[in-house]
Amino acid sequence: MNIILIGPPGAGKGTQSHFLEEKHGMIQLSTGDMLRTAIKHEEPVGLEAQSLMAAGKLVPDDLMVRMIEARIAKPDCARGFILDGFPRTVPQAEALDKMLVAQGKKLDAVIELKVDEAALIARVSGRFACANCGASYHDTYMPTTKPNVCDACGGKEFTRRPDDNAETMKARLEVFRIQTAPILPYYQAKGLLKVVDGMADMHDVTKAIEAVLNQTPA
Ligand code: AP5
Repeated sequence: MNIILIGPPGAGKGTQSHFLEEKHGMIQLSTGDMLRTAIKHEEPVGLEAQSLMAAGKLVPDDLMVRMIEARIAKPDCARGFILDGFPRTVPQAEALDKMLVAQGKKLDAVIELKVDEAALIARVSGRFACANCGASYHDTYMPTTKPNVCDACGGKEFTRRPDDNAETMKARLEVFRIQTAPILPYYQAKGLLKVVDGMADMHDVTKAIEAVLNQTPA
């Protein structure tokens, strides 16, 4: 199955993608992670994206479309993928439709995670990740089992995203409202949009997503 998880920053797209990847073998395609890797490796794409991401603005559509087009053509995507962070504008959604047709693929569901704004800020400001393997945690909602030791790899160094601060978060939420939310009616009109309560406990959110997937014809 090929699905999109859509929601504002901190809605739980990455968290749920990881759970679905582990349980159902689908591939997570996170454009945010791809861009952060490109920045880390000082690739041209990363250099172009860095200041925009730090300001909470979107990276140009053509660059993102090329990145996803190349990624979904890879053989591992044949077992199903989860788009996390793409599309983020109506032109990106239209480009996705075209590339799926060209590659003989289809979209099965678009799942919107709905979360209150106050909860989003709390989630983003408490998020941190293992510097070694990238496993994601939260100070309150998902701490490491042993203090300051990564559950996944035993790493002892952690990082926080430079865009996870109150000022940039305001800009990211505004961008979501103005540029990304208009894709919800786009998918509603195609009969693909399903809404899940993202305020629930993260494991209950996974169950709600799985219920949607179970009701979706393959
Ligand atoms: P991106 O990396 O995609 O960031 P985002 O959309 O802002 O989303 P986040 O990663 O912040 O949140 P999430 O929904 O994944 O939440 P998470 O699961 O981590 O994009 C970053 C930037 O890249 C953009 O601003 C833009 O500049 C650029 N970009 C990326 N894609 C682009 C595109 N297509 N076009 C143009 N530009 C693009 O959860 C957050 C925290 O909450 C975690 O700590 C987690 O443990 C906790 N949590 C999760 N679920 C729950 C729950 N149910 N209860 C309690 N806590 C929870």
